[in-house]
Amino acid sequence: MSSDFTPDFDPNDLIIPKNYGVAGQPHAAWTQLRKHAPVWKTETELYHPFYAITRHADIMDISNKPDVFSNAEGPMLLDNNMLARRDASADGFGNMRTIIEMDPPEHRDFRKVASGFFTPRSIHRLDEIVTECARAQIDKLGDEGETDFVESISQRHPLRVLATILGIEPEDEDLLLELTQQLFAADDPDLQRKGEDRGAASMSLMADFGALFTRLIEDRRANPRDDLASLLANAKMADGSQMGPMETFGYYLIVFTAGHDTTRNAISGGMQALLDNPEQLQKLRDDPSLAKSTVEEVVRWTSPVNYMRRTLQEDVELHGVNMRAGESLVMYYASANRDDAVFDNPFGFDIARHPNRHLGFGTGEHFCLGAHVARLSARALFSEIANRVEFMEPSGDPTHIASSFVVGLKTLPVRYKIRPAA
Ligand code: HEM
Repeated sequence: MSSDFTPDFDPNDLIIPKNYGVAGQPHAAWTQLRKHAPVWKTETELYHPFYAITRHADIMDISNKPDVFSNAEGPMLLDNNMLARRDASADGFGNMRTIIEMDPPEHRDFRKVASGFFTPRSIHRLDEIVTECARAQIDKLGDEGETDFVESISQRHPLRVLATILGIEPEDEDLLLELTQQLFAADDPDLQRKGEDRGAASMSLMADFGALFTRLIEDRRANPRDDLASLLANAKMADGSQMGPMETFGYYLIVFTAGHDTTRNAISGGMQALLDNPEQLQKLRDDPSLAKSTVEEVVRWTSPVNYMRRTLQEDVELHGVNMRAGESLVMYYASANRDDAVFDNPFGFDIARHPNRHLGFGTGEHFCLGAHVARLSARALFSEIANRVEFMEPSGDPTHIASSFVVGLKTLPVRYKIRPAA
């Protein structure tokens, strides 16, 4: 099907982080691929070739076959420089293992360690805290002014919520924010770790995470509390043994980082979409009960986790393309979320969209563990915005993070007027 397809886009736009930093997500390219080459062997200047998977139905199918499409090589494509460094790396955290890099049955055993904490019922008890947190964020804006919405609101709110769940002190929040940005935006000149080459930077970054986690794990083993950091530090496997140190570090790493950068990018992109579609913002103001469906539409619209990679365990033929065992494919959730086979008017931002079968949180074996936290936290913020923002408009051009994995806005300058809390 795709053999005679000639793209009229630059394949680098699909994956090279700096291209995302300039132009954001390549929706026009994905639209072509969905139509003409849904399994497309992508050759770029920096990465081993991989298959771009762009249709909703194919991503559903692949995600439900973890025995064929494995996570063991990691969910992110590493560029050729990173691959060379990883192979030469001898740092102490090289063996760190996160659940997103595991396959069943092992994955299920480790996911169970924290899944009880993340059920809707368990997360529901955070309702009040999250609402207060959203109110405090909007209060900080004062009556009127100009600000970078990303810096003052969308980056702070999910971080505060996550810090509360984890039980980390406010003074550790800035450190966590900085390290997380350096991890997910290693190619962004404004956010990456400074003063070291890429290999040294990634090693020293892991050492800093390690120091933070060691301090917390030791503290929570000595003084367990009712928080997620304590649960993970003291976790036992089904056979009663203590979770291993590399798996404990891995759990800390994924929960401490995946939990707020993603939600920040959803909130920033969602705010931008509301500003671009003022009738939708008005609709939310008129009916705040739409906050729930607003969040689903925001996650569909922004797809902050742009893709997940899988590695083939056996040869597979899909839409006439023969993929070989050992090769990688990349499932573009952001593309699936604009697939007109599933969504009416996929390029329209509609906060009342129903049904909304987006894949922003993935699906199947590795479905986002923190989806309910993300939903709760974004819902509280958009409700507060609906109730309190009298007026908001762009006051400059937004910029994009130079990243193709966790993607979104770096800045969103706005001017605003806020109503006092009722
Ligand atoms: C809008 C915010 C978020 C988005 C868009 C998002 C998206 C995703 C996606 C696409 C996956 C992979 C799913 C798959 O492979 O099928 C994932 C996995 C994961 N997410 Fe999220 N996420 C968000 C927020 C969070 C939060 C708040 C937390 C924790 C507090 C979290 C923790 C995790 C974990 C632990 C995994 C790995 C699950 C596994 O491997 O079984 N995420 N997320």
